[in-house]
Order: sequence, then C-alpha cells, then structure tokens
Amino acid sequence: MSKIRLGIIGCGDMQSAHQQIFEALSDKVVVTATADIDIDKARNAAQILGAVHAVSNYQDLFQYVDAVLVVTPHDLHHEMGIKSFAAGKHVLMEKPMAVSEEECRSLIRASEESGKVLMVAYPMRYQPLVVKLKELIDQEYLGKVFHIGIFTEQLTQPPEGHWIRSAKHLGGGQFFSHGCHYIDLLLWFLGRPSTGIHIGTRLGTPWMEREGTSDAVITFESGALGHHFGTWGARATRHGYSIHVHCDRGMLEADITNGVLYAHHGFEGDPPRGGIAGTLSPDPRGAEVIMQIASESKYLQGELAHFLQCIESGETPLTDGPGSLQGLRVIWRLEEAEKQGKFADLVGLGLDQA
Ligand SMILES: NC(=O)c1ccc[n+]([C@@H]2O[C@H](COP(=O)([O-])OP(=O)(O)OC[C@H]3O[C@@H](n4cnc5c(N)ncnc54)[C@H](O)[C@@H]3O)[C@@H](O)[C@H]2O)c1
Repeated sequence: MSKIRLGIIGCGDMQSAHQQIFEALSDKVVVTATADIDIDKARNAAQILGAVHAVSNYQDLFQYVDAVLVVTPHDLHHEMGIKSFAAGKHVLMEKPMAVSEEECRSLIRASEESGKVLMVAYPMRYQPLVVKLKELIDQEYLGKVFHIGIFTEQLTQPPEGHWIRSAKHLGGGQFFSHGCHYIDLLLWFLGRPSTGIHIGTRLGTPWMEREGTSDAVITFESGALGHHFGTWGARATRHGYSIHVHCDRGMLEADITNGVLYAHHGFEGDPPRGGIAGTLSPDPRGAEVIMQIASESKYLQGELAHFLQCIESGETPLTDGPGSLQGLRVIWRLEEAEKQGKFADLVGLGLDQA
C-alpha cells in the first residue's frame, strides 16, 4: 500500500500539535502540501513537515493530495469540506464539524456521494486512558455508573481580534467549541440522553462574545447523570482535565492532565465512621493505578492512524459525521432551552436514533 498523501489546510496553533505525529506514522502517510491564507505560515509548516508544496489558496493543494486535514476557524469548515469532497479527497475535519445542522448534513451527504471518508477530530476518543475508562465502564468494573463528571479547566485568552473571541467564527461559545468533545464522550459512555440543562456565563472571560464558562447536566435513559464543567477563565486549578465516574462500588478517575487512570475501591459494609453521612477521605483504601501514560498528546497519533485505516479499509470512523452531528444537536438543544429558561428534551438525539 502506497503512502497516503495528506494536505493540511490551516497552519496555526493546532496544526503545530499535529506535527509530532507525522513522523511516527511516516510509513503510512506523507504530508505533501500545506495551505494557509497567510503564506508564511504555510511555508513554515511545509518546511517543518517536509512538504514540497505550500499555497495560500487551499484549493490549489488538491492536486497534490489524497486526503486533507482541515484545521481552520469553525465557520470555514463547511465550505472547505465541501470543496474537498468535490475534488475527491478524504477529510479529517477538526472539531466541531461545522456550525449548523444544515452545514453538518451537507458535509455528511457530500461524503456519502463522493464515497470519501469524513472523520471528525475528537482525539479524546483515542486517548488511551479514555479508551480504557470506557472499557471499565462497560464491564462494570466498580459496578453500575450513576454519575460522570468531566472537568476541563483552562485559561484561553486569545489576543484582541482573534476569531476564537467571536461567536460567529467560533459558532458559539466555550460549550460549543470545547464542550463538544465532552458531550461526545458522555454520549459514548452513557448512551441515550433524556433531558438536560446548560447554563453559561461570560463573567471571568469578558473577552468572549458568548460564554467562557459553563455547566451542562444531562440525564440518561439508564438514570445516570452526566456533567461537564468547562471554563476558559481558570486562573488556577485543582481538577485540570479530569473525568470522575461514580459507580455503586467505587469511583474511576481519569486524571488526563497527569496521565493516570485510577480505580478508587469503595467501602463495603457500613459507611465510614459508622454514620449515615460519613465524609469520605479521598483514598479510603488506596487507589489502584489501572494505567499510566506519558501526558504528551500521543493520542493524536491514534486519531490519525484511525483515519488512515478508514481510508485504506473503507470502515466507518469511530467519530463519523452522523455521530458527531448527534452530539452537536444535543448542544444546540441545550442552548435553545437555556434561552427559554427550560429543560431541554434530548429524546431522539441518541447515538443510534437520528
Ligand atoms: N482537537 C483539539 O483538541 C483542538 C485543539 C485546538 C484547536 N482545535 C481546532 O483546530 C482548528 C483550528 O484551531 P487553531 O487553534 O489551530 O486556530 P488558529 O487560529 O491557530 O489557526 C487557524 C489557521 O487557519 C488559517 N486560515 C484562516 N482562514 C483561512 C483560509 N481561508 N484558508 C486557509 N487558511 C486559513 C489562519 O491563518 C490560521 O493559521 C479549530 O477547528 C479548532 O477547534 C482542536
């Protein structure tokens, strides 16, 4: 099998995060062309990645590639994806897939009509701790899950005039742009959602046109609750990036920031201190370390490897267009309900329903 020739559209911050993975997959993929409206960025990326062609008009790279990685502001994803499919290219689309239901549906249609792969870059799905966590949840390692809390606390303060500040270019606020990873995970972990609420605020992130901090709570058909707390305004943090899964025999904890997956085994028998409302100390019986990984972004490698495999084998990506759209629909329903001061009805938007 000859190497897949990849073109990169958008050579900004995220593109540089991808740089480290191309070398590891150099037997399968070669970056042949880069594109950025700022030609200096395209040339710089081409030099680093060994690409022969650097262009400012992304459509000029189609002649050199089999597949593209789209890494641009969100309101450009749709047009770039459609033109890529029209040129017969496979597309790995940075998240979120696009900024509206219509745009997402049209990308899914274009992928189907062209017979080319559409995969959405949700790298958390390929993160080894998260993959193992899903396995432990499914096998009820610590019993049945009743609550999953996902915490993503970071400081994202782009300079004046940056597209991330703008609701139009971002397609929303922190919840749409970043929360999409974690709504996707909650649906993957817990299945069909029933109802939910989202509340966001600009307080703490006045640079954002829409919310920079939010809480979303979703109920699932199983009765479990899923919660995402995300902020782009954290000046300090204890949680960092972490996932806490409460089960009826203990708690699973993925400490994404430090690269460790723990199983905290719970008490058997009477509650601690014999009371009915004992406060638990953090590690009542010592935590079992299930997995430890280097905390660098190795999982981007798993994501790209999966994309290449889907191109080769014709299999459907784990993070395909329809699955990704369902997650975005949940976000849009939650945002709509927030405006009306209501709970959102999320029935019919589950992974296997739409
Ligand atoms: N998966 C993740 O965890 C993750 C993390 C960060 C960013 N991202 C995603 O990556 C994408 C890009 O984000 P970023 O942080 O790299 O943004 P960025 O602003 O750093 O880079 C975007 C690049 O696109 C270029 N660009 C703009 N218009 C263009 C056009 N018409 N033609 C060609 N190039 C154009 C800009 O010049 C810039 O270099 C977004 O979808 C974002 O959500 C994903």
